Amino acid sequence: MKIKHSLFTRRRFLNSMIGGWITAMGTAFLAPIAKFVFPPNKEPDEVLLPKSDYENMEPNTVKLFSWGAKPGILKMNDDRSYTAFVAVCTHLDCNISYLPDQRKFFCACHDGWYDENGINIAGPPPTPLRQLNVAIDEEHFIITKDKGNE
Ligand code: FES
Repeated sequence: MKIKHSLFTRRRFLNSMIGGWITAMGTAFLAPIAKFVFPPNKEPDEVLLPKSDYENMEPNTVKLFSWGAKPGILKMNDDRSYTAFVAVCTHLDCNISYLPDQRKFFCACHDGWYDENGINIAGPPPTPLRQLNVAIDEEHFIITKDKGNE
C-alpha cells in the first residue's frame, strides 16, 4: 500500500535538522562557560593519607596522592621532612613528574622545569608549584591547603 501524503513533510524535516543544529551549537558554546562558573570538582580543604602507605619513603623520593580531581605529590626531603605539592604545572595544568637523579620536577607538555622545592627555574611555567601543608598524626599524613598560596 502506498501512502499518498507523507506525514513527515520536507519543511518539518528541515526545521528539525536546523533546530537540532542550533541546540547542539548552543550546548557546545554554553558548556565550557557553565564549567568555568560552576567548577565540577571543588578542591578539598584536607586530605588524609594512611600513614602506613607513606611513612616508608626514602629521602629524595615522591609518592602520588589524589588532591580532589588533581594529583598531589608528597616528597620526602633529605632531612626526612615532607613537602607536598599540587602536581600540576602552573603553565597550563599538565601533570608534572619528579626526576630524583636531577632533583627537579618536570613538565613534559612544554618542557617546564621546577627545582626540588617547586620553584620554577626554566621553561614557560610562570609561578612555583602550589605547595600544600603537611602534618602528621598517629595514623595519617594530613594534607591541607596552604592559606598563603591558594
Ligand atoms: S603545561 Fe607545563 S610547561 Fe606548559
